[in-house]
Amino acid sequence: MKSESTSLKLQPFELLFTQNEIQEVITDMGARISKDYEDKNPILLGVLKGCFVFVADLIRAISIPTEVEFISAHSYGSSFEPGTLTLSGGPEINLKGRHILMVEGVVDTGRTAVSIVETLKSMEPASVEIVTLLDKTGRRELLLDIKYAGIPVKDDFVIGYGLDYNQLYRNLPFIGKVIDQTAE
Ligand code: IMP
Ligand code: MG
Repeated sequence: MKSESTSLKLQPFELLFTQNEIQEVITDMGARISKDYEDKNPILLGVLKGCFVFVADLIRAISIPTEVEFISAHSYGSSFEPGTLTLSGGPEINLKGRHILMVEGVVDTGRTAVSIVETLKSMEPASVEIVTLLDKTGRRELLLDIKYAGIPVKDDFVIGYGLDYNQLYRNLPFIGKVIDQTAE
């Protein structure tokens, strides 16, 4: 009997940002957050799954007492385009009166960030700010004020350092861009 095999459709990509370049950006961001939130004991609220590598590095670049929580955001779209958003597994602690830093790997249209910020505001935190490693400003559909934006990126689909294409490539230690094979 012929066995069913899952064929992995691998995607060609090219390097955009090296590990060292990423670390420099995160070191600066961690220093800024440590200064801005001195005596505030903030909570890093990571948006899974894309944030997980970034959160691990960012929290180690922060020198003040900091807590960490996660929320899951899943978008049922195509490989490249966002679809319907669902949120699950919110933080287990009370956010009322707390300073929240919502951490994303990449902000694209802004739909995920806006939806999470709205959900968080109903929990009456003392403050909510957005932190993202990569910022696709040119793709924004909703107005967003991002206090900590690491690296601006063009309208490329980026992978690696926690970010996926069809759930793969999260383990790349650098950030690459998927090469559009339909382009001239
Ligand atoms: P939004 O469009 O800002 O809501 O972004 C939705 C989510 O899509 C992000 O949190 C990422 O998980 C994912 N996403 C957007 N752009 C990229 C990309 O270039 N590479 C990988 N994931 C992406
Ligand atoms: Mg994804």
